[in-house]
Amino acid sequence: MGKILVTGGLGYIGCHTTVELLGKGIEVVVVDNLSNTTIDVKNRIEKIAGKSFPFYEIDVCNTEKLKEVFASENITGIIHFAAFKAVGESVENPILYYRNNIEGLISLLECVKEYNVPNIVFSSSCTVYGDTKESPITEEHPIVQAISPYGTTKIVGEQILFDFANVSSTKVVSLRYFNPVGAHSSSLIGELPIGIPNNLIPYVTQTAAGIREKLTIFGNDYNTPDGTNIRDFIHVVDLAKAHVKAIDFADNHSFKVEVFNLGTGKGTSVSEVVDTFEKVNSLSLNHIYGPRRAGDVEQIWADATKANEILGWKAEISLEEMLRTAWDWQQTLKD
Ligand code: UFG
Repeated sequence: MGKILVTGGLGYIGCHTTVELLGKGIEVVVVDNLSNTTIDVKNRIEKIAGKSFPFYEIDVCNTEKLKEVFASENITGIIHFAAFKAVGESVENPILYYRNNIEGLISLLECVKEYNVPNIVFSSSCTVYGDTKESPITEEHPIVQAISPYGTTKIVGEQILFDFANVSSTKVVSLRYFNPVGAHSSSLIGELPIGIPNNLIPYVTQTAAGIREKLTIFGNDYNTPDGTNIRDFIHVVDLAKAHVKAIDFADNHSFKVEVFNLGTGKGTSVSEVVDTFEKVNSLSLNHIYGPRRAGDVEQIWADATKANEILGWKAEISLEEMLRTAWDWQQTLKD
């Protein structure tokens, strides 16, 4: 077997996945433009894994540079993380998102085509299901109009890959993530939010650390048991392991396209997250209830039966562990 190219392999989900791949003895090549991470993450991955790997500081939109990587490394599979992911920013600057996420994917596929790469695993999102009222949600749920340009890049990205798989021998696995949270148990890697976090868990941990004054819970008048939104929070290490399973599955099965939901199958409310965070970390979190945030889906959680049955994967890490590791990680960061 050759090497697995991990684009965005120094980013939040990418670095945890690189650790898991190396841990399974799989050879890895990482490409990252360092737009949302630092080179130090490479050393940290190597420290956890006890192994080194080739790294190229390249933007995936740069097809010529990317082709050089394919020319010098024997790449037999790709996990494509490299993309922007801030929903609000995508609303403010849609062109940036379409250029980076869509052009980046097309650039990568030019290389896949030229070098006949057999498998590609794509980072998708439950955002493709839009503002659904049906949870747990299966992969059969229709894809609807996205709520944000970020969401559109995931829907269009999947479609581009499916069209490509149709006319090539490359197998496509699209993984639809629910809400990835937490950090590696070593506290050497985790999420590195730049600026004021948009996502719940970094905002919670930064508030606990005193970097933010208080957490505002966006809405407590939803039609849910405690009035706050419900999400399917999944530990990033569980998510990373699913990518290793997806690569293994693609190597050993014949198909064109497969789509999997990656979640725990359990919905947790924002209020429950705050309560559990306080309990497991023995602290009290300054929080208030505020108005709803525009574009928030009321409640969504995964039916992850397909990933369980076909990939042999199941999320195993508890909400308590997600929130403990998130806090441990935050305490290693300087503000
Ligand atoms: N929330 C707060 N206060 C905050 C931040 C978030 O109450 O300061 C709430 C949100 O209203 C939401 C929940 O916490 O109910 C989770 O919010 P996140 O921003 O962490 O995550 P989202 O569910 O909005 O977004 C995630 C991914 C996106 C993806 C989307 C699809 O981050 O990439 O799910 O639903 F597109």
